[in-house]
Amino acid sequence: MSTNLESLATLARSPHATTGTSRAHEGELVVENVFHRYVFAGRDTEVLHDVSFRIAAGQVACVVGPSGCGKSTLLGLAAGLLRPSAGTVRWDGTPVRLGPNPHLGMAFQQPGLFPWMSVRKNVAIGLRTRGYDRREARRIADEFLDTVGLHDFKDAYPRHLSGGMAQRVGIARALALKPRLLLLDEPFAAVDAFTRLKLQQEFKSLLALSRPTVLFVTHDVPEAIALGDLIVVMSKRPASVQTIIPVAREERDRASPAYARKLAETLACLGVTSDMT
Ligand SMILES: Nc1ncnc2c1ncn2[C@@H]1O[C@H](COP(=O)(O)OP(=O)(O)O)[C@@H](O)[C@H]1O
Ligand SMILES: [Mg+2]
Repeated sequence: MSTNLESLATLARSPHATTGTSRAHEGELVVENVFHRYVFAGRDTEVLHDVSFRIAAGQVACVVGPSGCGKSTLLGLAAGLLRPSAGTVRWDGTPVRLGPNPHLGMAFQQPGLFPWMSVRKNVAIGLRTRGYDRREARRIADEFLDTVGLHDFKDAYPRHLSGGMAQRVGIARALALKPRLLLLDEPFAAVDAFTRLKLQQEFKSLLALSRPTVLFVTHDVPEAIALGDLIVVMSKRPASVQTIIPVAREERDRASPAYARKLAETLACLGVTSDMT
């Protein structure tokens, strides 16, 4: 395949790639009155209770909420891995169906690399499953590994990588697909605090290159402020949206009073006050 990345990205953004949808909703992820319950071993757990929010094309929404409130479930619904008990999740204006979505990239807390494959192969495999031939998949994998600073580790195996490096491979693998919808489940949670800040910065500049629509689950409020255009604060289970907090550019500067106010505001929604006395 000789198509270059840019024309592929354009193709993916063209209305023809989104059959039957109007351009008005292109790149938009809408969660509409979604309820979800799990029935397992005779127990019925209501997890999501009437959840609604909208992410406009190219925006980053960070979902924060207590552990077990249903954040990963929400991602599963957006990914087409689960079907909501009631309500609708719409991508590009069309209800998400069970099954693969060719526009989708995902990354998780554990990058889930195949230990028997080199770093390059781990990135290229996703492209191969989307129909790229071997040479082209390898070329794109190399390009993205360069972008995430892993130029010298393409032939290494996952066991040779630090946690931060492995997570960079996971991010490279998701972004190499040029996804229009990116779903991330606490992708930086398993790395140390310093690496995490670096990964956040790198990730932010990577997003600026292709501007996918992003649903980013985190339990780290500073991370949500650093990365999100909006923060969706969930209540405890059965979770509904407690509030949606927009984040302005100036509120991302960690040295600013505006940042301190946003942090206090978001934490207060989660029931945490900043008074430690
Ligand atoms: N497949 C499943 N079957 C039964 N219960 C589940 C399943 N997946 C998750 N749960 C339960 O649903 C709740 C929400 O899970 P999850 O979406 O993973 O929350 P979070 O990501 O916010 O921590 C938890 O109480 C969890 O135990
Ligand atoms: Mg989770």
